[in-house]
Formats: sequence, structure tokens, C-alpha cells
Amino acid sequence: MSKKLYITTAIPYVNAKPHVGHVMDYLIADIWARYQKQMGHEVRFQVGTDEHGNKIAAKARDVGQNLQVFVDENYAEFKKFVDSMNISYTDFIRTTDPKHQAAVQYIWQQLTPYIYKGTYEGWYCEGCESFVTDKEAAATNGVCPDHGKSYQRLSEENYYFKASEFSGKVREAIEAHKLKIVPEFRQKEFLNLIKDGMPDVSISRPKKSLSWGVPVPGDDTQVMYVWLDALANYITVLGYPEDAAWKDYWPADVQVVGKDIMRFHAGLWPAMLVGLGLPLPKVLLVHGHVTVGGAKMSKTMGNVVDPVEIINKFGAEALRYYFSRHVSTTEDSDFNWRKFEDAYNNELANDLGNLVSRTANMVTRYQAGVVGEIQKAEHDMFAYNEAMRELRFSDAIDDAWVLVQGANQFIDRVKPWEIAKSAADDPEEKEHLDEVLAHVVGSLLQAASMLYPFLPATSEKITDMFGTGVIKPAEGVLFPKTKLETAEAQPAPVAEPVVEAVAPAPEPEPVQPEPPVSDVAAG
Ligand code: MSP
Repeated sequence: MSKKLYITTAIPYVNAKPHVGHVMDYLIADIWARYQKQMGHEVRFQVGTDEHGNKIAAKARDVGQNLQVFVDENYAEFKKFVDSMNISYTDFIRTTDPKHQAAVQYIWQQLTPYIYKGTYEGWYCEGCESFVTDKEAAATNGVCPDHGKSYQRLSEENYYFKASEFSGKVREAIEAHKLKIVPEFRQKEFLNLIKDGMPDVSISRPKKSLSWGVPVPGDDTQVMYVWLDALANYITVLGYPEDAAWKDYWPADVQVVGKDIMRFHAGLWPAMLVGLGLPLPKVLLVHGHVTVGGAKMSKTMGNVVDPVEIINKFGAEALRYYFSRHVSTTEDSDFNWRKFEDAYNNELANDLGNLVSRTANMVTRYQAGVVGEIQKAEHDMFAYNEAMRELRFSDAIDDAWVLVQGANQFIDRVKPWEIAKSAADDPEEKEHLDEVLAHVVGSLLQAASMLYPFLPATSEKITDMFGTGVIKPAEGVLFPKTKLETAEAQPAPVAEPVVEAVAPAPEPEPVQPEPPVSDVAAG
């Protein structure tokens, strides 16, 4: 039965343009959303931008720009980026949207029984937009390990949210897998973090130190803490509280976040939800971080990779491929241009592009483009479906690739071009050839379906080409081989790629053997 499902992504700060780390939330959620749609479900899929807070205000000041103009510009960069990745989101939320802000004020009012005023003194990291305990600050010598900046000692009058009151409920939900944290080791990590209970959380800042945020209702000296405002987006985007349709989608089926912000999503957010009397999300999928050239990305290191540069050079499908297959869904993984280029040429161009091209060529030459009865796909879907269900997406695409490589090996072994030599005079050989090619086409169509969540445009091209049983010559080339002139230069190349040998559409004559050639045509 068709279900209404909901998946969310972390909303990035708009203090800078997107970097390659931002690919993960969008891509993971998109893979899941597309898979669920293939299964016949209806999916609501939120993305957005986190536009308040000190970090953003400070950056706009540094670059001498009006705050609203600054966030508008960076929002536009994120929007463009998400669209260029071909992400199938249904809703894009901006936290500066007046409707969101009004809903956040409503949420504050609903939480009033759990809000009190107090003076806070502690260590604050502007990068994380959060306080850390004295113990945590001491353990890292007073420097935030994620942002490399010294913690600030702040003492201020704030409003507090009694998250501590909900510790037991949140822990129980996590332990009982009502709120399941994936992968398991992250769940253990979080439960260990809250083993002595969750602390109360400061949820406002005096206006003098933070004016770029949602005003606290009834107190114009205070502005809301950016995390309270940001976390609320997951329900305000659905129309909470006014539009009753939010009830069709909440609780979320999956919330995707990076490991650095797990604690907000596994602690503060569930506590807010319990306080509001709302159900908890079902799954929190925590992905690892992408490093570049083995190091954490940073402006000072000069190793920040711009994903738009990848898309411009190799295309969105290649970006999606690399980050689906070579970046683990849940572990930290490294990006470097050389690995990217190798994956593109060896796997996308050679394995998949070449399979599509040689199959189309053979059906065109030997059968005038008519496949005949496409053989039913034979690849056992169990491992793939299990990996998809368990949110191990890099494992699932690996399994699809087993099929792609298997089809290539089958062609190499059976050598249809040899069979074709005798097929002209021998009806049995002709039948054999038909069967062989029908089998390959069946495999390709099954691979296309398995690859759809990862490479939607490529999958559609393959289905268009082969799906009707009569080959439709495709326009252009599927993954033309490219080379970065400065592939050695790490981490970021400066040169444009050179497109090698873009072969034309398949020629019916002369018949040529079809070993795994390196140049790729058609598709
Ligand atoms: N604004 C908050 C999230 C609020 S959600 C209610 C935030 N923004 S962020 O821009 O710093 O991060 C956005 C997402 O990108 C997070 O899921 C974060 O983990 C992810 N990543 C940021 N850098 C990353 C890598 N280097 N690698 C993978 N993901 C990374 O936190």
C-alpha cells in the first residue's frame, strides 16, 4: 500500500557557499526518496537554509555586506547547487521566512512550561553556535576541534529549556529504537554522551550580542538561539501549526544529518518534540564527514572543494556516482581529484558507458535495432533491497555494479561477434545470438532500475534506449572519457578536463569485435 513518507536534511548555514561536504545530506536523502518513490510511496522531502545566528551576522560584517543581501546571495547559491545536483526535494525552507518565524514563536509559547530564565556562564563556540561543558573545553585545550577556534567565555542572562526533564523519555525512545540512530555505533556514542542525563539548554541570547534571529515572544531584549529556530524547520516546513496537512507527514521517517550535529538532533530536538507533545522521528541517519586529500577541509588549508566545479567538469551524474559509491554512507571518506577521475574513467566510462554503447552497437548491427523478447532480469535483488532498507547506500550501488560488471564479463565470455559470424546461415546460431543480446539488454534494464536512485538521468537514458525492445539511438555520449590535465596536483586541479574521443552514434557496418574498448560511444 502506498504510504506518505517524509525525509529531511540538515539545513546549512548560509555563511559561505556550498562545499563538497554539503553533498552528503542532499544525496543520501535523494537516494532514499527516489527509491521509496520507485516502491510506489509518496515522499515529502525537505531541504533548506539556516539563515540566522552570530556566525552569519559576523561573516556579513566581515565582508561589509548588508545582512539580508548577504543571506539572499548565499541562499541562492545553495538553491542553485541543490537544483544542479538533480535533487528531488518537494520543499525548500529558509529560516528567515516570516511564516517559519511566526511558527517558531508559536513553538516557543507552547514550550513555555519548560522555559525559565537564568544566568549562564560557559564556553561558547561560534562555529558550532553552541556552549560546551567545562569538561569538553578542557579536553580540547579550550579550542573547538571542529572549528579550530578558541571557545569564548560568555556570561549572560538567557532563557533555558528544561531538556533535562526529557532525558529519560529520549533515552528510552532511542534504546527501544522508536527513534533509531543509524549506524549503531553513533547510537552508542550518543547514549554514552547523555548517560548522566541531558543538560538544560540555553535557548536565547541577549539582543545586544545577537540581533539576527527570531525575537523571543514577550521579551524584546532577547533573541532565540539559532538551533531552536533551525530545528523547528522540520515541522514548520510542513505547515505546523496552522496547516493540518503537517500531520500527514510528521513524524519524519528519516532525518539525515552529519556526525557533528547528531547531538542536536538526538537530544535537543527530541526534547523539544516531547515538550510539544509530538512524536519523535523514526530514524536519524548520521553520515560521516568528507575530508579532502586526507585533511579536514578549511580555507586556511586551501583544500575546500567546490562541488559546482565538479558538476561543471564532469556533470551531476558523475558527482552523484562518486559520492554514492566511493563515499561511505556512514563512515568518514576522502575526496581527491585523482580518485574521482579514475572512478569516472574506469567505472562510469569503461564499465557502464561502454556496456551501454557496445550493447546498442551489437543490437543495431546484428538485429537492425530490434531486441526481440527482452529476457527477464536475473540478478537477485535481496542484497540490494536489504542494503537500501538498512540505509547502506554505498553497499547498494556496489551491488548494482556487480550486475554491470557481470554483463560485461558475459559479453566477453560469450563473444556475440563470433556467434554473429555464423548466425547468417544458421538459424540456431541466430536464435542463440538473439538470446544472448536479449539477456544483456535485460541485465542493462535491471541495472538501470537499480541505479535510478543514484543516477536518475543515466537510468532514464538507458531505459529510454532499450526499454521498448527497439533501440532508440541516444543523443550524445554517456560519460565521455575525460582527463584532468593536472590530476597529480592535489587537492584541487586548475585545468579544464580534456574530452577525449567522443565517438559518433553506432555505425551498422562494418561488423567489428566488441571487446571492452576504452572509448565510449552512444548513450
Ligand atoms: N545549520 C546547521 C544545521 C541545522 S539543521 C537544523 C549546520 N550547518 S552546516 O552548514 O555546518 O552543516 C550542514 C550539513 O553539512 C550538516 O549535516 C553537516 O554535518 C554537513 N557537513 C558539513 N561539513 C561536512 C563535511 N566535511 N562532510 C560531510 N558533511 C559535512 O550544521
